[in-house]
Amino acid sequence: MKSLPSFIFLYVIMLNFSLTVTSLNQRCIDIIDAIERKSDLVLCPIIDDPKRKDNLGEYLTGANMILINFTCEISDTALCDKIKSAFETAGSTISAAFNFRAQIIIDARFKNLNNKNVLGSTVPTRLMFLDSEDDVTRLYPQALVKQFQFTNHSQYADSDITSIFNSAFNYWFEGDPPIKQNQYDFYTIAVHEIFHGLGFYSLWGNYFGFNNKTIDALTPYPLLSGMSSSDPLYFNGFVESIFDKFLMIYDSTTSSIISSTNITSELNTFGPPGTKFSSLTDFSDKFKASSQWETVAKYFYRMATMAESMKFVPRGVDFISGTFLETSIPFFPGSSICHVSNADYSGTSDFLMRYVVESGVTGTNLTARGGSYSGGVIGPHLREIMSSLG
Ligand SMILES: *[C@@H]1O[C@H](CO)[C@@H](O)[C@H](O)[C@H]1NC(C)=O
Ligand SMILES: *[C@@H]1O[C@H](CO)[C@@H](O)[C@H](O)[C@H]1NC(C)=O
Ligand SMILES: *[C@@H]1O[C@H](CO)[C@@H](O)[C@H](O)[C@H]1NC(C)=O
Ligand SMILES: *[C@@H]1O[C@H](CO)[C@@H](O)[C@H](O)[C@H]1NC(C)=O
Ligand SMILES: *[C@@H]1O[C@H](CO)[C@@H](O)[C@H](O)[C@H]1NC(C)=O
Repeated sequence: MKSLPSFIFLYVIMLNFSLTVTSLNQRCIDIIDAIERKSDLVLCPIIDDPKRKDNLGEYLTGANMILINFTCEISDTALCDKIKSAFETAGSTISAAFNFRAQIIIDARFKNLNNKNVLGSTVPTRLMFLDSEDDVTRLYPQALVKQFQFTNHSQYADSDITSIFNSAFNYWFEGDPPIKQNQYDFYTIAVHEIFHGLGFYSLWGNYFGFNNKTIDALTPYPLLSGMSSSDPLYFNGFVESIFDKFLMIYDSTTSSIISSTNITSELNTFGPPGTKFSSLTDFSDKFKASSQWETVAKYFYRMATMAESMKFVPRGVDFISGTFLETSIPFFPGSSICHVSNADYSGTSDFLMRYVVESGVTGTNLTARGGSYSGGVIGPHLREIMSSLG
């Protein structure tokens, strides 16, 4: 009997917000456990790095700008070698597709996660606060910040991207016999995952009830500072990622286009930012009783669960030419919004950033199905999206 292909669903982790400090001055957000959604506000003092000036504008063309620092935690060394080599090929594919100015280090780990549902997780190691050109402060992945070659910048973490893959899945590699129905093409998934680490990453999530299906409201990352959940704390506003700057909503009931940033600024009329709350519960209760929760956070949730209602609209491009994000499924943290629409891009050259991965097909098969795009697995929409970010 021929086995049927199976599907796995990819997602990026949505952070749990944390309370560890009294001041946000010179802070960054580190993702300390990519599987458990743990994050930490860490001290990252501004570093004066004048030697960077020498590198300004210098593109290291031809060089592989993505370095994989690989750790294998299983005993099958032949499999370890294949994983490492596929990771490196994924890195050099991405490196060749964009102009990187600074090298990116990926801490990659292959281990048994003892979980048949999680294929792995890839996240920016550190997120940094930067003011975008519209003077709005947003969170940027460190890999992207490095590309700007600032002479003064927040202190970098040792690696830019942290990636963990689960050895409990059956992977296929280039050079193997034809892919079997139960195998997943590792290289293609690695390319997909690295893009999340490079900034294909929305911070809109259900921070007020993860996996609680009764919570039908979404917000960007709530920035709170305090010592512990029972001590007084300050609400410092909801913060988008740089990806979210380009997120646009099409509301068919009013035929209007509204930016994520405008919705975030409406949410930030709650508080307002700088307001002190007596505890995390106090903050959460007051926010859930607010008009911003009722009319804004719930509105965003409705749009995030309505087909073709959200697009990534790159710099200088009309809404019509943007890329539909995943909003046609019941809200799933890290799959919704953080991926391109499965319904719209299956069978196209932009298949890569869908949340659905089918076993039994290779990236080459999918590229062929999508019309044999010359750029391989990195489709034209994805190129446009990544160029907008950095
Ligand atoms: C690679 O990771 C190890 C720890 O796992 C670290 O000690 C080493 O410095 C890293 N190398 C680079 C080049 O980042
Ligand atoms: C960089 O930081 C140093 C020390 O804080 C400061 O003296 C210098 O003016 C800064 N340079 C720029 C270009 O911001
Ligand atoms: C889910 O959210 C609702 C509404 O806030 C709350 O009453 C309920 O206790 C939550 N359930 C869980 C399991 O946390
Ligand atoms: C966002 O808000 C600004 C200022 O209120 C307004 O001028 C602009 O048209 C709005 N744009 C979108 C796309 O929501
Ligand atoms: C995938 O590509 C291989 C090699 O070109 C081919 O033999 C196979 O039939 C293709 N499979 C699918 C499902 O398209």
